[in-house]
Amino acid sequence: MTSDRAAREPLSTLPLAASEIPLSDPFPSPVPLTGVRREMWERALPYLDVRDNDAHSLYSFALATALLHTLPGAREDVVLPAVLLHDTGWKKVHPADILPAIAGRAGPAGQETIRRHESEGAAIAARILADVGYPARDTERIVTIVDGHDTRRDALDLDDAVVKDADKLWRLTPHGLRTVGAWFALDPDRTLRFVVARTYDRLLTDPARAVAAALTVLARTDIRVQRSGLKPP
Ligand SMILES: [Fe+2]
Ligand SMILES: [Fe+2]
Repeated sequence: MTSDRAAREPLSTLPLAASEIPLSDPFPSPVPLTGVRREMWERALPYLDVRDNDAHSLYSFALATALLHTLPGAREDVVLPAVLLHDTGWKKVHPADILPAIAGRAGPAGQETIRRHESEGAAIAARILADVGYPARDTERIVTIVDGHDTRRDALDLDDAVVKDADKLWRLTPHGLRTVGAWFALDPDRTLRFVVARTYDRLLTDPARAVAAALTVLARTDIRVQRSGLKPP
């Protein structure tokens, strides 16, 4: 059933004054990219200009900060750099090999491509962390996490689990769904089904599963609202 938008009663705009908008709230915000994290991000950027990895990494960074808010046992100084650097290795893979590998069409060669982006990313991360003078113990953990962030199904520890979950949750964000849909020429409904089938059983923490459920139900509602003729705002 469709609804006639033009026939609905419009409301006239009521501009609010700046003083009517709260300046802050108690809810989590992404940790700002300042100091040494800004330095490592700027060094990572030349490696992140393939596959939308720059935006993907920033969304995953934001999701990681939200997960850290509810999982205080995870270490921010390990998780956040690992998220920023985890996909730098895609730059070392031939662009034509990327999507067949992600789609699972390329067989063992595709698995090798995915493995390669992890090991190349680990080497790049090690160099960047050395260049910015990051502590050696944290560097070792970050490099280990990057080197296996996709192919290692189980987490080594909570830090590894948060990185893996923040990476995969991105797929269910509006940006992730748009990006994956464009990669594989899928409409929103098929994109969501494709992503959901590849995401839920890989999530490792309860907060990530809760975020995934909320993002999925919102995406399904967007599709339903679109189909009913009621455009989402
Ligand atoms: Fe990756
Ligand atoms: Fe990723």
